[in-house]
Amino acid sequence: MGQREQWGTRVGFVLAAVGSAIGLGNIWRFPYMAAENGGGAFFIPYLFALLTAGIPILILEFGIGHKFRGSAPLSFAKLSRKWEWLGWWQVLVCFFIAIYYVDVIAWAISYVGFSLSQAWGNAPADFFFGEYLGLSEGPFDLGGLRTGILFTLIIAWAVTFLALYGGVKGGIEKANKILMPVLFIMTVIMAVRGVTLPGAAEGLNYLFEPDFSRIFDYKVWTAAYGQIFFTLSIAFAIMIAYSSYLPKKSDIVNNAFITAFVNCGFSLLAGLAVFGVVGHMALNQGKPVAEVAGSGGVGMAFITFPAAINTLGSLAPLFGILFFLSLTFAGLSSLISINEAAISAFMDKFNLARKPAVIIYTGVAAACSLVFATGAGLYILDIVDHFINNFGIVFGGLIEVLLIGWLFNLKTIQDHVNPISEIKVGSWWPFCIKFITPVVLGYMAVMNLINDFKEPYGGYPLNALFWLGWFVIIIVIVGGFLISALKWKDEQSLIKEVD
Ligand code: PHE
Repeated sequence: MGQREQWGTRVGFVLAAVGSAIGLGNIWRFPYMAAENGGGAFFIPYLFALLTAGIPILILEFGIGHKFRGSAPLSFAKLSRKWEWLGWWQVLVCFFIAIYYVDVIAWAISYVGFSLSQAWGNAPADFFFGEYLGLSEGPFDLGGLRTGILFTLIIAWAVTFLALYGGVKGGIEKANKILMPVLFIMTVIMAVRGVTLPGAAEGLNYLFEPDFSRIFDYKVWTAAYGQIFFTLSIAFAIMIAYSSYLPKKSDIVNNAFITAFVNCGFSLLAGLAVFGVVGHMALNQGKPVAEVAGSGGVGMAFITFPAAINTLGSLAPLFGILFFLSLTFAGLSSLISINEAAISAFMDKFNLARKPAVIIYTGVAAACSLVFATGAGLYILDIVDHFINNFGIVFGGLIEVLLIGWLFNLKTIQDHVNPISEIKVGSWWPFCIKFITPVVLGYMAVMNLINDFKEPYGGYPLNALFWLGWFVIIIVIVGGFLISALKWKDEQSLIKEVD
């Protein structure tokens, strides 16, 4: 096998890492999560989670990828041949996320077009569920492929394919160098205009007004930790893969801090834009913000926001385009990273060249993503997303910190990153990884399991929850063990110099 690919510049790497971190979650998940979990008071658990889990694990993953120069399975296999399966778990989780994440991006692309004329009319919910998604009766009633979605799905895959096919420097880095700056500019415009709209203050109050009593609610803390993992793309094999392409002399700790702070800063900016506009809608309709805000996620982006855009008068088309293009750009840069985490793993394991690996992988993933472009797409997405988020991420992260924190000498990673980094990690770092994070994640894992058994998710039929939820988790677990049992095409890659 030839030399491992490398980023062209440090900025290129940071933009790619930030591109992975900033995604749909920053725009539609963060502002609502903050508003619903204590407003301004949410920042206490959020910052705590960022400092005790987010940044320490980012440093850990950057350090592992850089030291072992491999995708997650290769890096874990180099740590110990016994742990390779953990890397494949994370890769399979990425695969399942990729095939539905891409569909949401496809919807966003469609909505860029709809924004021109506010095609959703006065009833955005009916338009979205009915005319656009053609939502069927339930998860097993596929109701045919939606040609409108198919078209934008192809666009989303085409961009992703080109970035991946072009390689680390010539594709992924280039794509992020375009997507990220444009995304920042668009979001700044929306935030500045958003907070100066009449009524914006009420919206921002709704977002920031602190409710300190919530600090004692464990749910607020688990929400904060969950959001930090999701938003920083940690425990997903992604950051390990990206940092494996860093040149030998690279500042690990600083890059981790920059990535984390840029990502969280962006979330705040998105919060200003979103709640500025939602506050304006409330004023316009003479209702309290809480009543018009709806909840985060798909409903926020494709129902609440279109309704809010309707109240913007002549600004409506511009705001619509900016908002949905922001979702598209934020989403694409994350989608590229999710797929790269998997592609780099297959390249390492089967000694494949990039081009054939990208062609085969995206072909399979694109075919699988078609399920979500049917009339049942939204149901299936909702179930898969719930299980992947609540179990895939939490368990993947928990096992990662337990294995690496307890069975492996963290000092080796510390000794690797400190000499090359400007900021040195001290004893706080192993403490966070060995104690704080496993305790919180362990607690979350148990609570999630109890909750799902007590109350089947979302009122879906049990067989749907089994086949689309638990079974997906089983595929991830069993698949991870099976792939790791396969022989490495090039056994040499496992023992190659790591430093
Ligand atoms: N971190 C990104 C987000 O917040 C994207 C992402 C999500 C990446 C989940 C990997 C896994 O949307």
